[in-house]
Amino acid sequence: MADPSHGPASFGTQANALLRKNLTFQKRNIKTNIRLISFPFILCLLLVLLQSLVNNELDKPKNNCGCQCVDTNGGGQCQKQCGIQYSTVDQVGTCPIESPPKWPPLMQVPAPQYRAVRSDSVPFMDLPDDSCRTAGSCPATMLFTGSNQSLGEILAGNMFPSSFALNSSDVFSSLSNNLVGSSSWPELQNFLEPALFSDLPLYNIQRQCSLNSTVSVTIQASSDMPQVNLELSCVRGLNLWRNSSAAVNDELYKGYRKGNPDRKINEIVAAYDFLNTDDNNFNASIWFNSTYENDSGNNPMALLRVPRSVNLASNAYLQFLRGSDTKILLEFVKEMPKPQTKLRLDISSLLGTLFFTWVIIQLFPVILSALVYEKQQKLRIMMKMHGLGDGPYWLISYAYFLTISALYMLCFVIFGSVIGLKFFTLNDYSIQFVFYLIYINLQIALAFLAAAFFSNVKTATVVGYIVVFGTGLLGGFLFQFFVQDASFPSK
Ligand SMILES: *[C@@H]1O[C@H](CO)[C@@H](O)[C@H](O)[C@H]1NC(C)=O
Ligand SMILES: *[C@@H]1O[C@H](CO)[C@@H](O)[C@H](O)[C@H]1NC(C)=O
Ligand SMILES: *[C@@H]1O[C@H](CO)[C@@H](O)[C@H](O)[C@H]1NC(C)=O
Ligand SMILES: *[C@@H]1O[C@H](CO)[C@@H](O)[C@H](O)[C@H]1NC(C)=O
Ligand SMILES: *[C@@H]1O[C@H](CO)[C@@H](O)[C@H](O)[C@H]1NC(C)=O
Ligand SMILES: *[C@@H]1O[C@H](CO)[C@@H](O)[C@H](O)[C@H]1NC(C)=O
Repeated sequence: MADPSHGPASFGTQANALLRKNLTFQKRNIKTNIRLISFPFILCLLLVLLQSLVNNELDKPKNNCGCQCVDTNGGGQCQKQCGIQYSTVDQVGTCPIESPPKWPPLMQVPAPQYRAVRSDSVPFMDLPDDSCRTAGSCPATMLFTGSNQSLGEILAGNMFPSSFALNSSDVFSSLSNNLVGSSSWPELQNFLEPALFSDLPLYNIQRQCSLNSTVSVTIQASSDMPQVNLELSCVRGLNLWRNSSAAVNDELYKGYRKGNPDRKINEIVAAYDFLNTDDNNFNASIWFNSTYENDSGNNPMALLRVPRSVNLASNAYLQFLRGSDTKILLEFVKEMPKPQTKLRLDISSLLGTLFFTWVIIQLFPVILSALVYEKQQKLRIMMKMHGLGDGPYWLISYAYFLTISALYMLCFVIFGSVIGLKFFTLNDYSIQFVFYLIYINLQIALAFLAAAFFSNVKTATVVGYIVVFGTGLLGGFLFQFFVQDASFPSK
């Protein structure tokens, strides 16, 4: 019963009453609240589980440095030894490698069925006829251009050796002294040269090949590495002059394997532009194909096969200046030493910032639907009829949502840090505190504004979730680029 001698209840009294009412309500609602706040905890738990499953899979022997049981003292008992010499090309990446083996520098040579031949789209008659594809005898073509054609042709002529010079007491250097290539795909690292451990043949490129000429050699990269038997099959090298670098570009472009299926595939080994090179000045640019990647997602690392092309050009120029007895040798290439490493995949960074954005905005639809619920059930009107002012109502609601949001974020930050999510551990907590505090306040204010436009909980919830996903996507894939753009005003 309201005492008529008193005016309407004061702000404090109203707020107090509403707070008590809300506390009772929230107490009844405790399960929902706990579920909401523990969502980040469950998420972190799931991440940990997923990560340990992935780690478990990555720790299997096939992903780690190869090991073998070796009888070290001849006593019939064997000791497990691990190392690069027992590994495959896929395993070697995790081995400790104190002195990396050296490998002959190889050229990337297209497989026989892709090598350049004459076709309607390419107007050059000096390419071979495409009957060589069925015979598997297509030459490996290189293109040349430059400002002085006669000089360019001399240099091009110096590039291919006339025969395979095999020094049987030093087979390894023989591979480096000749022009040897492979069509196997380079790897991300070169601790084991994939060309020497694949089934694909090696090619030795020469000016002329005698029929079916293959050479078998055995090489050993270093004394602790196994010996490899290799078949070298001869491939004729073809050097063709083009009038300009534009003509070279055009020909390379038209030969591209992927893309238009009607276009003839015409792969070129490399192309050289000798620019203004003359007797006193060596100036060249070299085309190489960096797109050696395939559908299984191998990384394009053709750069590992570029040193040979560079050496080829400088060696040809030196021989032009000093005669064919002079050589710049490129004897081997090798990786730098590395300690043992483990293969790891960080699930949380794989999920990316978008995922975290979604988790944090998750509270927006919750707040929105809670507000619209009170409106839909006419609770807000009832409270008003009982004399509850707007001030206490919004104050208490705000305080409630702020508490829930703060607990939610706290839970996320704590558990995220405990399981070591870089998202939380790499940033200073004071900055994160300020950032999240501002953010949750903004979020509640936005939900208060949005609640005015809805009178149906279902609509509000659906729209709320669409906003969550939509803003995350828009932010990550559209606005981010505008904000990061150098021309974006910083003041
Ligand atoms: C082209 O190179 C050759 C060989 O070095 C030289 O004799 C000739 O003068 C050069 N021609 C021009 C136009 O520079
Ligand atoms: C063959 O290799 C050995 C060992 O490196 C070297 O001493 C010899 O001079 C080489 N022979 C030729 C013909 O290059
Ligand atoms: C290249 O240049 C030569 C001489 O200038 C010319 O005869 C020939 O037609 C040119 N080739 C092409 C494909 O333009
Ligand atoms: C470059 O390599 C890619 C991938 O192997 C191939 O599709 C393309 O035809 C090559 N381009 C040339 C000009 O050889
Ligand atoms: C090398 O060629 C490029 C392109 O033609 C030219 O810009 C540059 O000045 C040349 N360098 C020298 C040292 O001649
Ligand atoms: C893709 O790479 C793998 C591994 O290097 C190789 O075995 C496979 O033959 C390649 N696929 C194609 C289409 O070249």
